[in-house]
Amino acid sequence: MEGKSFYVTTPIYYVNDVPHIGHAYTTVAADILARFNRLMGNAVFFLTGTDEHGQKVLKAASDAGLSPKEHTDQLHGNYKTLWAKLDITNDAFIRTTDSGHIEIVQELLQRLYDKGEIVKRRYEGWYCTHDERFWTDKDVQDRNCPECGRPVEKIEEENYFFLMSKYHDALVRHIKDNPGYIMPETRRNEVLGFLRSNALGDLCVSRPSQRLSWGVPMPFDTNYVTYVWFDALINYYSATRYLINGAADKKGCWPASVHLVGKDILTTHAVFWTTMLMALDIPLPKRLFAHGWWTTEGRKMSKSLGNVVDPFEMVERYGADAMRYFLFREVTFGLDGDFSEGALTGRINTDLANDLGNLVSRSLAMLNKFFNGKVPTPDAVEAELKDLAEGILSKIDGQLDELSFHKALDEIWTLVTYLNKYIDTNKPWVLAKNNETAGRLRTVMYSLMEGIRFVSLYLYPYMPKSMGRLYNRLTGEDILKVNLQAVSIWGLTEKEMQIQELEQLFPRIETEAKTQPSGKPPAAKTSSKEGCLENVIDVIDIADFAKVKLKTAKIMGAEAVKGSNKLIRLTVDSGEERQVVAGIGKHYKPEELIGKTVVIVANLKPAKLMGVESQGMVLAASDSEGLTLITVDREIPAGALVK
Ligand code: ME8
Ligand code: MG
Repeated sequence: MEGKSFYVTTPIYYVNDVPHIGHAYTTVAADILARFNRLMGNAVFFLTGTDEHGQKVLKAASDAGLSPKEHTDQLHGNYKTLWAKLDITNDAFIRTTDSGHIEIVQELLQRLYDKGEIVKRRYEGWYCTHDERFWTDKDVQDRNCPECGRPVEKIEEENYFFLMSKYHDALVRHIKDNPGYIMPETRRNEVLGFLRSNALGDLCVSRPSQRLSWGVPMPFDTNYVTYVWFDALINYYSATRYLINGAADKKGCWPASVHLVGKDILTTHAVFWTTMLMALDIPLPKRLFAHGWWTTEGRKMSKSLGNVVDPFEMVERYGADAMRYFLFREVTFGLDGDFSEGALTGRINTDLANDLGNLVSRSLAMLNKFFNGKVPTPDAVEAELKDLAEGILSKIDGQLDELSFHKALDEIWTLVTYLNKYIDTNKPWVLAKNNETAGRLRTVMYSLMEGIRFVSLYLYPYMPKSMGRLYNRLTGEDILKVNLQAVSIWGLTEKEMQIQELEQLFPRIETEAKTQPSGKPPAAKTSSKEGCLENVIDVIDIADFAKVKLKTAKIMGAEAVKGSNKLIRLTVDSGEERQVVAGIGKHYKPEELIGKTVVIVANLKPAKLMGVESQGMVLAASDSEGLTLITVDREIPAGALVK
């Protein structure tokens, strides 16, 4: 079956910027679409890359004592590293300094020039070097840039102009006739509103090379280089001519299926890019989608505020899958969102560890217990579950076509929820006790395995690592080799197949405190592998905690236990005198301990350590630097209850 071609792009990011969560957002969105389309058997080309020309790059390079080429050679790697960490499967990475790109930019400029679409004109305006753009008298107050506030300079020069103004009506018509061209609809209306009240001007597409040398030379006049945006936008097209490498059906690649951008750069795409293509007689992309903006704690992320969310750190701490899931679960694609680690850990614990993780772990544990891990042959087909599972595919296909990542997740989650409820109502453990392995239990366990197989297939584009592993565990197959339509048919889980239990997919995140005095989100750590068993038992009741009697205890005497360099025998006053042995000898000297008030577990069954009886246990916290005793914040009588 020959699939259709699907070509998705991200913006090419400024090579100078430090990659942050916003860049990750657009790129993961493109990756979800690319993976879904590949799974559907479509010929996919997924492009991302870096924007490497312009004044800012030149300045940063000279500040670093490097040539601009050396500088960008180094910096673009930051993005590549991040994409690898986030499991991004781009088919190509374009750099605007690639010679292949430069040649095509020049070819297109020459074509426009030959057609009379680019002309030379005298130009006068206020120039902002930082933003690399001209302003009119009206825009500029006190000779400062209205965008960044930096001083502007009056420049009078000749430049080349793309005659954009004449495409005004054609542009409006195209947007009106193709409701899916600009999405979401609110953004489309904004662009139309802008075009209603503003006549398009012509676009200055050159800079004199004596003022700006780091750019693509104009092919018909080497005294000029090309305006950065003109060069950058062409990447989407140039890549299809020199970077394809058989990644997709070459003929079918252009026009792009969808350009994903943030709302900050919608105008450049909707207006500049569309009219450039019109002038070149190159077919227009099928869709431009402008997503919303991530803020942190309600504020714009910026270096100066120091609140930029570092995607490297987030992936390190929580894993790529959880990050990818969170970004698309938390906020409707198209709207703005506020990032907080609290919300992220909340999602991980509730959706991933509880709903999804527990579904998988308890199902596999039951299969192991009741059938030694062998998938039983069912007696019947659970029709409702079958219909639900199979029906999701066409829904998410439509939703992802509209970039409704959030709705598609909701849809998939109806199956997760259904399966959890299915376990609770069918109670396989009761069936097993009643010795029903012959009948109902077999159907229930088979249906669970089959249901989870569908979950892993559908969630795979969002969480490729864990869901790919799960799918492989359930089927023995590599998910990259399957066709989604061919395998989303109920009943494909093989009977008698041996399925091993899986290590916990999404460990719970233990938050150390709900809120910290600084107002910062709680510090969190991922449970270590060794900690897994404890984490399965999620929470305890207050009644469980009440069984543990914690008391303050004042240390009256301390001496090393003979023959041990670790154990110290303490005599404490905890309302009564008692002897407690503590393994703190490597961190404290006996004499330092006397007089301290510590916390002990007072109702622990006495035990002998190296022959010395210990009537309780002293609490301490430890980290890589060692161990520190838990003490009290002010003087308090010995034997006070801790709760
Ligand atoms: O504009 N929230 O590059 P850029 C959501 N080189 N998305 C964000 C974001 C945030 N806080 N911050 C950045 C450029 N993004 C040009 C593009 S394309 C021909 C040239 C994402 O490095 C979002 O996709 O400033 C936004 O459009 C893009 O990064 C801007 O990246
Ligand atoms: Mg930007």
